[in-house]
Amino acid sequence: MATAKILVVDDDPDTQRVLGFTLKQEGFAVLSAADGVEAVRIQERERADLILLDVMLPKLDGYQVAERIRADEGASGHVPIIMVTAETDIEQKVRGLRAGADDYLVKPFHPAELLARIRTLLARFAPRSLEPVSRTAEAGRVIAFYGAKGGVGTTTLAINAAIALQREEGRGVVLVDGNLQFGDHRVFLDLGLDRKSIVDVVAAPAIDYDLLRSVLIHHDTGIDLLLAPPSPETAELVSDEQHHMSQIIGLLRQHYDYVVVDIDKRLDETNLDVISAADLVFVVMTADLSCLKNVRLVLETMAQLGMGAGRIQLVLNRSTAYTGITVRNAERALRRRISYQVVNDYRVAITALNTGAPFAVARADSALGKSVVEFVRQIDKLDPAQAQTVELLPAGT
Ligand SMILES: Nc1ncnc2c1ncn2[C@@H]1O[C@H](COP(=O)(O)OP(=O)(O)OP(=O)(O)O)[C@@H](O)[C@H]1O
Ligand SMILES: [Mg+2]
Repeated sequence: MATAKILVVDDDPDTQRVLGFTLKQEGFAVLSAADGVEAVRIQERERADLILLDVMLPKLDGYQVAERIRADEGASGHVPIIMVTAETDIEQKVRGLRAGADDYLVKPFHPAELLARIRTLLARFAPRSLEPVSRTAEAGRVIAFYGAKGGVGTTTLAINAAIALQREEGRGVVLVDGNLQFGDHRVFLDLGLDRKSIVDVVAAPAIDYDLLRSVLIHHDTGIDLLLAPPSPETAELVSDEQHHMSQIIGLLRQHYDYVVVDIDKRLDETNLDVISAADLVFVVMTADLSCLKNVRLVLETMAQLGMGAGRIQLVLNRSTAYTGITVRNAERALRRRISYQVVNDYRVAITALNTGAPFAVARADSALGKSVVEFVRQIDKLDPAQAQTVELLPAGT
């Protein structure tokens, strides 16, 4: 594996020295710049693999440096940038992300946290030569099911789509319950509280695939599961500071065709960590006003965080239920196409839930079962590059 080159941009010589020492100890090559202009110049010439960028700098500040570097590299490359700030302010964070940063760290930070973030970003943006050895030639696809509102059927769709991807499309699928406090997968899939959960992964000193494998559950339906903890109080062990979710997802995608993650409407750090690791985010909604309001807010927030519109796709669940709002009305209100629809069939859905036998297996022939199969066929055919060009509807259509 080639040595990754890291450019440290900071005007404080002490910080430079400490960071340089830490990074070299870990086997990275280190370049340094003491102001914004020098940073841009060095990056132009040396092409570092990652940039650690302080916000407060002489000449050009960190935001301006990030903007220039992004403008210079064009569409061809993407050097990961970690913005280092003194403030925890969300405004600062959004500004940094808008300027083109991929992650941010708040001072003071622990060296272990810095190294964890660097490794995550290097793995995410790695060109072939820098890839970790364990990475297979083609990593699987990560899809997140995000509920625009509670109770819209996010878990129902995540579970049944995961199963249908395995049974109908023959894909290797792992399903992750990202509702860390109140995950429902044990109920939906008839599993006891004694089964291991994600907490058994994060409690270990280091996370690797062997450990993960010992915690995954192979379910009768054919898919593998990473469950949420049996009770809410242990959920906080899954740390967003250490990016546990994206670390785990990163490992799983090396071994499965699909990593399916079920998350709820909170735009907290943990969910943002999942969303940032996902290739596609399916926003699950029903055609009612509070859902439309939430979907609009979510789309705006994701755009502010610099997330390409194409990575986010709308799924209308219970599409045939009468709500007084048609698909067309909903699309107009959102100025976005609804990409997928899953029909309403309460009896089949609730029986599956009550018996712990997912309808994608027990009632695959029902209208609901077929509707989910149609949905996963479209997902599986989807070319991620095409998804980037998802249409935004012009106003007034
Ligand atoms: N297509 C559907 N047709 C009819 N009923 C459905 C459909 N999808 C889900 N349901 C029902 O809606 C209810 C909520 O489903 P589910 O638990 O999957 O939603 P959720 O969005 O994950 O909820 P939570 O906010 O609790 O996590 C369940 O009773 C389920 O059976
Ligand atoms: Mg749910």
